[in-house]
Amino acid sequence: MGLFIEDTWMEIFLLITTSIVIVINYFHKTYNYWTRKGVPTIRPKFPLGNTNILLPRSFSVGTLSKRFYDEFKRQGHRFGGVYLVTAPNLVIVDPELIKDIMGKDFQHFVDRGFYYNKEDDPLSAHLFAIDGLDWKNLRVKLTPTFTSGKMKKMFHSMIECVNNMKEAIDKSLGEDIDIKEMLGRFTTDVIGCCAFGIECNSFKYPDAEFRAMGHKIFQPGLLKSIRAFLAMNLPKLALRLGVKTLNEDIAKFFKDIVADTVKLRQEKNIRRNDFLQILIDLQDSANFTIGEMAAQVFLFFIAGFETSSTAMTFGLYELARNPDVQKKLREEICQVLEKYDNKITYESLNEMKYLEQVFDETLRMYPPLPNLNRRCTKNYTLPDTNVVVEEGTSLLISALGLHMDPEYYPEPEKFDPERFSEENKKARHPFVHLPFGDGPRNCIGLRFGLMQSKIGIITVIKNFHLSVSPLTKPVEFNPRTFLLSSKNNVYLKAENE
Ligand code: HEM
Ligand SMILES: *[C@@H]1O[C@H](CO)[C@@H](O)[C@H](O)[C@H]1NC(C)=O
Ligand SMILES: *[C@@H]1O[C@H](CO)[C@@H](O)[C@H](O)[C@H]1NC(C)=O
Repeated sequence: MGLFIEDTWMEIFLLITTSIVIVINYFHKTYNYWTRKGVPTIRPKFPLGNTNILLPRSFSVGTLSKRFYDEFKRQGHRFGGVYLVTAPNLVIVDPELIKDIMGKDFQHFVDRGFYYNKEDDPLSAHLFAIDGLDWKNLRVKLTPTFTSGKMKKMFHSMIECVNNMKEAIDKSLGEDIDIKEMLGRFTTDVIGCCAFGIECNSFKYPDAEFRAMGHKIFQPGLLKSIRAFLAMNLPKLALRLGVKTLNEDIAKFFKDIVADTVKLRQEKNIRRNDFLQILIDLQDSANFTIGEMAAQVFLFFIAGFETSSTAMTFGLYELARNPDVQKKLREEICQVLEKYDNKITYESLNEMKYLEQVFDETLRMYPPLPNLNRRCTKNYTLPDTNVVVEEGTSLLISALGLHMDPEYYPEPEKFDPERFSEENKKARHPFVHLPFGDGPRNCIGLRFGLMQSKIGIITVIKNFHLSVSPLTKPVEFNPRTFLLSSKNNVYLKAENE
C-alpha cells in the first residue's frame, strides 16, 4: 500500500517536472528566436514576453510600440525584435527601411496580420483586416469610392452636418464643452449621411441609434479585452473557437440597416450620393453579398468617425492652448473665405496652407492610429544585412515613435505648425510623418478624413474663440484603446469671435 502511494506520488512528481521542463524549453526556444537570427532584442519576461497586457498598469499597443522604438533607437539599431507574449514581432526604426517595406518591397508585406473571421463574424472581414488576394481585389473595387469627384459630391452633406454643430456650440457659449463628444456627434452625422444617406442629427437626438452604436463600439470592456487578447495573440485558437470581435446586436444593426436600405433603393429606384450607393452600383461587377457590403459600410463607419473626431479634438485643444496659432489660422481662414462670399467651398479647402500645417502638426503629435502593422507574406532579406524576415512574422512600425523622435522633431512635445512649412518638410525624410500610413495599403479614406476634419476646424475657428477650460487635465493617453485617445475628457470654452 505504502509502495503504491509512493509510486503514484512519484508519477505525479515526474509528470509535473516533465511538464515544467517542456514549458521552460518551449519558452527558452521561443524567446531565443531573435537572438538566433542575430537580431537585437529587449530581454523578454516569462510568460508575457515584452508586453504587459492584462497587468494593471498595461499600455496600449500604440504606447507599447513607441517604447520599443525608443529603446532600439537609443541603442542605435535600425530594427529590433520583441515578443508579444510568444509571437516574435520585428520593430522597424530606420525610415529608409520603412520606406522599402511599405513601398518598393510591398509584395513581401501585403497583410496587416489582423484577426478576422469570415464565417462566424462576417462584419470583421473588412478591408482593414483581410489578407492577400482577397484584400487586393477588394481594394481595387473600393478605390473609386474615394475619388475627388465623389468627395465633391459629399461635400454639401458635410456642410449641412457642420452647421448643426455650429448651432450646438452657439448654445453652449461660455460653458465647458466636452469637445470630443461635440465632434463625435458631428462626424457621426457625416458618416451617417455619407455612408448610408441617413440624416442622424446627433445634436438634436444625442441618443440616436448611430451615436449609441458609436459609443458602444469604442467602449472598453472586460469581455472585449479578452476577445481582443485572443484575436491578437492566439489567432488560430480564436478562429477555431469562433471568437467574434463584435457584439451580436452591433453586427445585427449594421447588417439590417444595409439589407433594408439596399432593398428599398432597388425596389423604389432611389439613388443617393453616398458610399452605399457606390457599393450598390459596384454590385454588377463586384458581386458583393449583403454580408460583404455590410462589412465595408461598417468599416467606413468606425474608420470614418472616430479617427477624425479624435484628430480634431486634439487639434482644437492645441489651438486653444496656443492663442497665437489660433489667431494666425483664423486670419488665413477669413482671408481665403472672403474670396468665396464668406462660405466654405470645396476649392477653398486647398487654399488654406496654414490650416494644412496645423493639421499635419496635430497628426504628428497625436496620430489617431499610433502603430502601423504589416505581416511578412514572403521571406524577405533586410537590405544591407543577412537577416531573413520569415513569412508569417509580424512587423511593428511606430508612427508615434517616429513622430516624437527628437532627431526629426526637436522639442517633440512642442506644438509648432512651422515644422510643416514647405521648406522644413523638404529637409526631412518623408517617412517620419505617417499619420495615414503609406504605400498600397495606406488609408483609403485619407481625402474624406481630411475634408471632414478641415471643415470642422474651419467652422469652429472662424466663428468662435477657443480657450482651455480649467476642468481639463493634462492629456494622458488612454492605455485601453486601440486608437489614440485622451484618458480624461477635453473641455474647451467657446466665445463668439
Ligand atoms: C483623420 C482621419 C484618418 C486617419 C488619421 C486615418 C489613418 C489610417 C491609417 C494610419 C491607416 C493604416 C495605413 C497603413 O497601414 O499604412 C488607415 C487605413 C484605413 N483607413 Fe483610415 N484614417 C482616417 C480616416 C479614414 C476614413 C474617413 C475612412 C473611410 C471612410 C478610412 C478608411 C480606412 C480604411 C478602409 C483603411 C484600410 C486600408 C487597407 O487596408 O487597404 N480612414 N487609416
Ligand atoms: C456571384 O456569386 C454567386 C454566389 O457566390 C455565384 O453563383 C455567381 O456565379 C457569381 N456571379 C458572378 C457574375 O461572378
Ligand atoms: C524562409 O526562410 C526560412 C528561414 O531562413 C527557411 O527555413 C524557409 O525555408 C524559407 N521559406 C521559403 C519559402 O523560402
